[in-house]
Amino acid sequence: MKYLVTGGAGFIGSAFVRLCLRERPDVEIVNLDKLTYAGNLENLAEVSDSPRYSFVKGDIAELDFVHNLVAETKPDAIVHFAAESHVDRSILSPEPVIRTNFHGTFCLLEAARRNQVPRFHHVSTDEVYGSLEEPLEADESYPLKASSPYSASKAGSDLLALSYHTTYHMAVTVSRASNNYGPYHFPEKLIPLMISNALEDKPLPIYGDGLQVRDWLYVDDHCRAIQAVLDKGRSGEIYNIGGSRSLPNREVVEMILAITGKPKSLMVTVKDRPGHDRRYALSSEKLTRATGWTPLVPFEEGLAATVRWYQEHRDWVARVKSGEYQSYYDKNYAGR
Ligand code: NAD
Ligand code: TYD
Repeated sequence: MKYLVTGGAGFIGSAFVRLCLRERPDVEIVNLDKLTYAGNLENLAEVSDSPRYSFVKGDIAELDFVHNLVAETKPDAIVHFAAESHVDRSILSPEPVIRTNFHGTFCLLEAARRNQVPRFHHVSTDEVYGSLEEPLEADESYPLKASSPYSASKAGSDLLALSYHTTYHMAVTVSRASNNYGPYHFPEKLIPLMISNALEDKPLPIYGDGLQVRDWLYVDDHCRAIQAVLDKGRSGEIYNIGGSRSLPNREVVEMILAITGKPKSLMVTVKDRPGHDRRYALSSEKLTRATGWTPLVPFEEGLAATVRWYQEHRDWVARVKSGEYQSYYDKNYAGR
């Protein structure tokens, strides 16, 4: 099997590449990534010498380039992770989000159609269902109600991917995962930002009352679920992937402070995110029924391992926080 993985230098894509090359001796991977601020080849150091791995730098939103690459590499499947993945950045600057997430997905689908790629898997998010009142849980038929430019771009790209199944009979699957956490997570999202700030004794900015609820999924559990969908998923179907562990943000941050041994006084309340979704919750029953997958890593264990990783990889953190990170941080948090 040859996979063309997009966004394989990012947080989840790189975890998928590492896991797949470790556990699937029959799989060869071509990784297509633009290396935006979030893409980092250091995340792939352990596989870079593998004869089953190769890297191509490029933009998924350039149709001719993508078409030619797919024609050359002739993958058995495209596994599509590449995205502008951060809600706050999508609020500050929606244009690259729409371009990559919607138009980029279109270019990949079109290249797959023209080159008759046998399989296309689109990686999406539970954010497309919007905020759900307690005790609701979204299954795959729950209405879409995207709140941010990011979630709207993902909802649009999900529909586009499924339209290629309906119209062109392409073998397409879509997965919608809850909030991931784990090693190599770019420190702009809640968990890695709070861990890295706590380790540097910097303030931990809590949006609003901090009682917004997210369902946490360890990144390797997500990657195993995607592999299960690739192995056993049915074409034209959507599969939710949840961590079965819903927690208010404030509680997650307090757990990080307890693990790092830092004081609660580091937590500061800042102005809330516009359009902030209060609660995400989803059911992964369909995936479990279809493939037997369930999440394996309990949150306490995964969080402790993640904190340990950040403690042991301070050079990685320092490098990713250099460059444009500081100007993003100032833009997002200054005066909040
Ligand atoms: P990330 O931001 O860490 O990585 C994104 C990768 O895509 C980077 O390597 C970047 O260089 C690459 N990329 C961006 N624009 C590109 C372009 N135009 N062409 C080629 N490559 C480009 O993101 P992530 O957290 O690893 O998320 C991966 C996927 O999973 C995304 O589709 C995201 O929507 C989805 N997802 C993420 C989460 C989460 O909690 N992080 C949850 C559910 C779903
Ligand atoms: P985030 O990691 O950005 O993921 P998403 O918005 O895609 O769920 O945020 C997770 C939650 O943490 C969300 O409710 C917003 C909140 N949050 C903060 O309170 N402070 C922060 O600095 C960040 C980045 C997020």
